[in-house]
Amino acid sequence: MKLDKYIKTACLLLPFCVVSCDTNKGNDKDAEMNKFVSDLMSKMTLEEKIGQSTLISSWWDVTGPVSNNDYAHKAKDGHVGGFFNALTCDFLYRLQKEVVENSRLGIPLMFGYDVIHGYKTTFPTPLAMSSSWDMEMVELAARSMAEEAAADGLHWAFAPMVDIARDPRWGRVAEGAGEDTFLGSEIARAQVRGIQGENFADTATLIACVKHFAAYGAPVGGRDYNSVDMSERQLREFYLPPYKAAVDEGCQTVMCAFNDINGVPATTNKWLMTDVLRDEWGFDGMIVTDYTGIFELTNHKTVRDSADAGAQAIRAGVDMDMQSAIFMNYSKENYEKGLISMEDIDRACRNVLNMKYKLGLFEDPYRYCDTMRAKRVLKHPKFFKASHEVAKRSIVLLKNDNEVLPISKNTKTIALIGPMATNKRNHLGTWHTAGREETVTPIYEAFLKEFPDSRIIVEDGCWYEGDDRSKFAKAVAAVRQADVVVMCMGEQEFESGEAASKTDIRLAKIQRDLIDEVAKVNKPMVLLLHNGRPMVLTDEEKKFDAILEVWHLGSMAGPAIADVVSGDHNPSGKLTMSFPRSVGQIPVYYNYLNTGRPENVNVRFTSRYLDSPNSPLYPFGYGLSYTSFSYSNIELDKDSMTKDGVIKATVKVTNTGKRDGDEVVQMYIGDQVASVSRPLKELKGFKKVNIPAGKTVDVTFEITDELLKFYNADMVRDSEPGDFDLYIGGSSQTGNKTVFTLK
Ligand code: BGC
Repeated sequence: MKLDKYIKTACLLLPFCVVSCDTNKGNDKDAEMNKFVSDLMSKMTLEEKIGQSTLISSWWDVTGPVSNNDYAHKAKDGHVGGFFNALTCDFLYRLQKEVVENSRLGIPLMFGYDVIHGYKTTFPTPLAMSSSWDMEMVELAARSMAEEAAADGLHWAFAPMVDIARDPRWGRVAEGAGEDTFLGSEIARAQVRGIQGENFADTATLIACVKHFAAYGAPVGGRDYNSVDMSERQLREFYLPPYKAAVDEGCQTVMCAFNDINGVPATTNKWLMTDVLRDEWGFDGMIVTDYTGIFELTNHKTVRDSADAGAQAIRAGVDMDMQSAIFMNYSKENYEKGLISMEDIDRACRNVLNMKYKLGLFEDPYRYCDTMRAKRVLKHPKFFKASHEVAKRSIVLLKNDNEVLPISKNTKTIALIGPMATNKRNHLGTWHTAGREETVTPIYEAFLKEFPDSRIIVEDGCWYEGDDRSKFAKAVAAVRQADVVVMCMGEQEFESGEAASKTDIRLAKIQRDLIDEVAKVNKPMVLLLHNGRPMVLTDEEKKFDAILEVWHLGSMAGPAIADVVSGDHNPSGKLTMSFPRSVGQIPVYYNYLNTGRPENVNVRFTSRYLDSPNSPLYPFGYGLSYTSFSYSNIELDKDSMTKDGVIKATVKVTNTGKRDGDEVVQMYIGDQVASVSRPLKELKGFKKVNIPAGKTVDVTFEITDELLKFYNADMVRDSEPGDFDLYIGGSSQTGNKTVFTLK
């Protein structure tokens, strides 16, 4: 699209505008940007400045409560900085044009959207993707969704979500990378790289927004939006590092969490936004609230009224108000009353304008809106190919007795039972936003292709919920005719994600009853489990010969699942969140601190449950393969080091089975004695390696002082000399251990 009618301020200001808005690394570019933005701001009225700090949802898509206000006229007056939930090149072009041509200074809008795990082409949900432990795949998914969304005119993705989560009752665990800080930080980096690319001037990338700052993943009781109460040590040690990793990777924007932390709502948390994020971490991007975050402060009861909410939020460090319209409605009055300063308003406005500058919007406000490009790029086969690759690698084999899996292509009859067998929509998972079920290849269709010589009998047997048993008999009849039964059970897409907390995370009763009926027929049984969160599978573990955790895998779910079931692809996923034995164990996670009375099932007065082991059913890092791997003892190039030294730890990993396979080799370290209680072990490295059948590979990790640091008794992040346990193996529960010393 041509820049035909774009004649106002942007043109007046062009002499200051760089032609290529490069990665913004480097002082020259920053100086040019600062000069441009300062010049623009010198021409802006107070209302126009405040307007830049206002982000409003369009009526196109809805991701939260909406007001009936028509903000179009406000935008035309230059009193809105950006819209979200507005889609398509065409629509965004028209919206942009209205503002650029009608507002006094013609400052372009910025368009954001929840581009979480795909755009038109849906990828696996983030928790599923994290199970691949494959940073190339995670980056590829992020790259693909950014390219597709940018081609539809968008500028800004509300991703990655990096909230560490140990409580699967919380539905939003589906949006993150699970329970571990080290893995979560690596994934955060890969996602930021994927979304933002190398160069903001590249219209095939988006600006990323790491969220939800901070600790949104730890609401009391796993209930969404609930309070977060945790020590600073816990926060800094386990919850903050992934946000920091995203910031260090150059993430341009940060979204505040809805929750309070130790009583102070994240939206007005000066300590978090200003002291930690800006001053400690050196973040120089833009901070946006979550949806109506400022408005909700009146419910937190930490503000007197909306005006007070707006004043507290901007003073604490918020730059952009998402959907509350409180900056828009109260900042002027707050300024006139002396409750906020011009520095607050200027800082917020500047941070928003900087983003627009970096996106190249002052150079050409329509540069992302090219309908021809959209036609070429949206739903391009390359995205489906990528989604298929990522989906295969996200599947986790939880159980496989008697090698029931893979199912041979010579099998005569396969019964495909359950509500997910033919369903498309639920594969999209939570936050599929622009994704549509038309893009999904369902399991049944994929099985017909994958097993051309087999008879596939398909019966849904029941719905996901309710108590209609009328189809049980047909399902059982199908099972009687089959050599093997594949049951496609689980959660619907809306059962995880935002506002989807649960107290019971088992399969619904109706599904469990169907499983019982089918089990009576006594055929080899495979469970395909579709879900957004870890579930309690204690009963299913007893009833099924094999269990594949197939999550919500997106557009290519069917083919990816069929590949794994047939053995065309050997599964290599590993869990990134522990699967509890019961809800009563929650939170259950691998890197717990020891207690004074470690669990001993034979001793009453130890830290344990009377009715359950402490361990989860399936631990963090666990996942099987169609082959098997054996690990040698760990070899160290030296068994002690100084703080500036490095120890190389090597294991020989042998594929002892008959198929080639990928193994996620994981390194865990535990401090034997420290000034504060430390986790028994923590993930400190991992490598995914391909090992041909019968072959052995050497896998080496480097241990540096950085990996040994923690917040000591004085809350200083440092390491302490002494002995460390070192584990290298295929899960967090590996017993392959040695010891090294930090001198
Ligand atoms: C969610 C955010 C999301 C925002 C915009 C909120 O309800 O918490 O994650 O980015 O809506 O849709």
